[in-house]
This record gives sequence, C-alpha cells and structure tokens, in this order.
Amino acid sequence: METNLQFRLAARPVGMVKDSDWEQYSPELELLTDGEIRVKVLYISLDPAMRGWMNEGKSYIRPVAIGEVMRAGGVGVVVESKSPKFAVGDYVSGGTGVQQYWTGAADDKTGNFHKVDPALAPLTTYLNTLGMPGMTAYFGLIESGQPKAGETVVVSGAAGAVGQTVGQVAKQLGCRVVGIAGGKDKCDFVVNQLGFDACIDYKNESVKDGLKQHCPQGVDVYFDNVGGEILDTVLTRINLKARIVICGAISQYNNTTPVKGPSNYLALLVNRARMEGIVVFDYADRYHLGIKALAGWMKDGKIKSKEDIVQGLENFPLALNMLFEGKNFGKLVLQVAQH
Ligand SMILES: NC(=O)c1ccc[n+]([C@@H]2O[C@H](COP(=O)([O-])OP(=O)(O)OC[C@H]3O[C@@H](n4cnc5c(N)ncnc54)[C@H](OP(=O)(O)O)[C@@H]3O)[C@@H](O)[C@H]2O)c1
Repeated sequence: METNLQFRLAARPVGMVKDSDWEQYSPELELLTDGEIRVKVLYISLDPAMRGWMNEGKSYIRPVAIGEVMRAGGVGVVVESKSPKFAVGDYVSGGTGVQQYWTGAADDKTGNFHKVDPALAPLTTYLNTLGMPGMTAYFGLIESGQPKAGETVVVSGAAGAVGQTVGQVAKQLGCRVVGIAGGKDKCDFVVNQLGFDACIDYKNESVKDGLKQHCPQGVDVYFDNVGGEILDTVLTRINLKARIVICGAISQYNNTTPVKGPSNYLALLVNRARMEGIVVFDYADRYHLGIKALAGWMKDGKIKSKEDIVQGLENFPLALNMLFEGKNFGKLVLQVAQH
C-alpha cells in the first residue's frame, strides 16, 4: 500500500522554526469513500503567514493544532475520484497541507479545491500572481491603498510574492513606484525586469536617504510587507492623506520579544493619514475579478510572475525558513512531485 509523507506540527516554535518543531509521518493511503477525491500534491506554497499559524492565540484563522498536518496552499492533480465534481487528471488548487496526498470530500471547506488550467499559465503561477499573493497585492493595493495616477507608491518586500505584483500593478495604474528589498540582485530585478522606477537596498543603504532621493514628492501609498524599522522610516516621508496598507510584518514574526510598533505613528495625525490592515480572504468573493485583471496584464506582457522553486517535500523545514532569511527570490514554492 502506498504511503503519504506528511509534516505535522510537533511543537509551538520559539523564534525561528527548528527541525524539532516538526514530525514526519507516513500513514498508508486509505480507500476512498463516496464523494471523496485524492489529490496528488505537486507544488506547495510557502508563506510567511505559516509562521503565525504555528502560534497559539487569536488571529484571523485558527492556529494549526499540535499533531495536525501543517496547513498550506498547494496545487495538485486529482489521481482518484468518487465525486462527480472532479475527474481524474483535473489540476486543482486548494488547501493541500504539507503532504504528498490530500484525501477528503470533494466539497470539503478546508481543501476548498477549484480547477486550474496548466494550458493557460504554469501551475506555480496559480500560487503566485494568479493565486493568494496576487489577490493580496491587487485588492490590498487598489482597495486599501487607493493609488491614483501620478502618486508615489512605496512597497517593501519588493522582490517577493506580494511585493512584485503590488509594484507592477501600481505601474499599470500610472504611479511612481519605489521598492525596498534586500540586496543588489533583488533591487536590479525589480527595476530592470519589473519596471519599478527605483529600489532601495535596505541591507546596504539608508532607507531614509533612499526615500529622500527616490520619492522627492513624498509617499502617498506605502504597502508594508515587513513592519519594524522600515515602516517607522517610511512614516517620516508620508504626504497629506497618505494611505498605509498593513499587509504583513515579516521582520517581527520570529520575535521572542514584543512586536516593535511604529514610534513615528504621529505622522498619521499630522498628515491626516490612514493605516489599515488587510486580510486577503476578505476579498474571496471577488477573486475572479482580480484574476481576470492580472491574467489580462500577464497576457499582454505587462506583468511578470517570478517564482523560486525548491525541490523535494523533505526540504520543507529548510525551505520555509528561507522566507525569514531573505533567501527566496520571488514567490517561494516547494515542488513535491513531477507532472
Ligand atoms: N494580509 C494578508 O492577507 C497577507 C497575504 C499574503 C501575505 N501577507 C504578508 O505579506 C508579506 C510578504 O509575503 P510574501 O508571501 O510576499 O513573502 P515574500 O516577500 O515572497 O518573502 C519574504 C521576504 O521578506 C523579506 N524579509 C524577511 N525578513 C525580513 C526582515 N527582517 N526585514 C525586511 N524584510 C524581510 C525577504 O526579502 P528581502 O530579501 O527583500 O529582505 C524575504 O524574501 C508577509 O509579511 C506576509 O505575511 C499578508
């Protein structure tokens, strides 16, 4: 009988996730019952949010329980079906978890699978620009950031999954776009390949000086993926009625001390500015509109989707930590099987 390698949460991490926070299991695959499908997982999406899901406490989604298969989005292919909803050979995207096979009811709310077409875009794109990070970027920028042509948009984590799409969409909307990213290669990429107007290498230059130089008219929209000191510094350059989109704060996720809040928050008062948190799931009923817009720009060659693919489910713990070390270049995806 075939087995299913799974990564289950063994302990709640303190600081960076350690190998001992995971346990590997390989249960045998069981026979399907009526209404069920089996999905062979091809790619798993590695997301900074996974670190938060490992913590106890109230959030926008319940924590992963100790002993539970780690939650993850993924793309796979249906290999067995006892449901009219999916046929063998259908490619699907949904909540696969960190494992080789997902088995359950075709209409299961956690799996929440929908079909994707590999003829329209590479499968990994459905985990990036045409998936959750793309939806976060599109709706977070447009609905919360409300950028207008001619305004200056700054985005941190600029070469990452969400950041790359935020900047490219803002360019399509006629904005001046300045990225913030770690390292020369990432900065060169977002300017030369993605068309950003400038990029500040926060690891090698002063963010304050970079903002002065590249945002001479100030900052109208800041799309924040990182929090911490960078958020504090951008606050010193915002314009009247600026919009700050709090998408994430990856610089704080592994803290063993309290999260560093923005000490410059009075810039919001002085500038009658707004800071708003967003959660992508709130836009779920309109994802089809975001996908249509982004797919259209991609088809016209106006938006690119860059993924960074790591091979092998066994490398999951190491690959997840790449996000927090800035080692991923583009949307980080784990390839579990060939297709
Ligand atoms: N609110 C929502 O619904 C929602 C949905 C999706 C994602 N998010 C958030 O969006 C953010 C980006 O997610 P993503 O999937 O696009 O990840 P990503 O940008 O593809 O990968 C994470 C990147 O964060 C940067 N980083 C890591 N540690 C950092 C630090 N201490 N200071 C500054 N930058 C650091 C690294 O880039 P550098 O090399 O440039 O440092 C790293 O490559 C995360 O905060 C995530 O939690 C929120």
